[in-house]
Amino acid sequence: MGTDAVGKTRILVWDAPTRVFHWLLALSFAGAYATSESDRLMGVHLTLGYTMVGLVAFRLIWGVIGTRHARFASFVRGPVAVARYASEMLSFKPKTSVGHNPLGALSIVLMLLSTLAIVYTGWVYFNGGSHSVKEIHEAAAGFMLVVVGVHVAGVIYASLTQGENLIGAMWSGYKQGLTKDKIRWSWWPLALLLMCCVLGFWYLQWQNPVMSTQRGSAYAHDGHGDHQSGNRVQHSWRSGDDD
Ligand code: HEM
Ligand code: HEM
Repeated sequence: MGTDAVGKTRILVWDAPTRVFHWLLALSFAGAYATSESDRLMGVHLTLGYTMVGLVAFRLIWGVIGTRHARFASFVRGPVAVARYASEMLSFKPKTSVGHNPLGALSIVLMLLSTLAIVYTGWVYFNGGSHSVKEIHEAAAGFMLVVVGVHVAGVIYASLTQGENLIGAMWSGYKQGLTKDKIRWSWWPLALLLMCCVLGFWYLQWQNPVMSTQRGSAYAHDGHGDHQSGNRVQHSWRSGDDD
């Protein structure tokens, strides 16, 4: 593998749990959004919402004890650093960062916090909350959708201006950098454990969906959902009947 004039080479930057977390969060967000308007798919909506909060809980812990570029202390910056980076970006000369850049870090914090707000308000509404809670839930989801849009646009823009494929890096874990900045382990066993927890949770939800609980039945009877018993709701979102 080649080393360039400034001594940069291909180094491991993102550990496997961070990458697995990222792509599962993106998938769950897209799925939860896509199923948000369907009564029939409300079970999938709830399952993916709870998956997101579990993933964020994992990430909050990993942000403290994880590998160096995954730690919040290494990338969360104050408003001055964020503003400086934004102006560098506008002049098409952003400084490259080994880990997350300051603006990217801001979008990451916003996405993590929005997830918590969305899931909390969704849960309150599902358990008998008022119409205004539903509106806050929708607004928080809409806000996160905007942040995700800016996040993806920012990643593409930074990739083009830096001349490095950051999306590929979030997949493979590798970026161009100095050997001193690399992480030593990819932590695959932990990433596999995280994947197993998510798949296990999806399997359990498939067997006994949250919509089939007493609360789910109450929700379905309460003028929302299918207006059917919880078991019927369970049946309907699993079997694909469109009511
Ligand atoms: C759809 C919902 C998405 C959400 C909620 C999301 C969320 C996040 C989060 C939380 C991080 C921080 C990773 C960490 O350190 O834990 C991140 C980083 C990243 N995401 Fe996403 N993401 C989404 C979609 C995407 C998509 C579609 C792409 C590719 C086009 C993408 C590319 C990246 C890249 C490249 C990074 C690393 C940025 C850097 O180098 O600083 N993300 N994303
Ligand atoms: C476990 C967590 C969640 C719970 C308990 C939950 C619950 C609900 C409930 C009960 C509704 C109302 C459906 C109706 O009666 O019309 C709803 C709607 C909605 N949810 Fe969630 N949700 C959760 C997670 C999420 C997530 C993660 C997102 C974003 C990706 C999201 C986005 C939405 C949106 C946009 C609507 C409004 C759909 C419409 O236009 O009617 N929810 N959610």
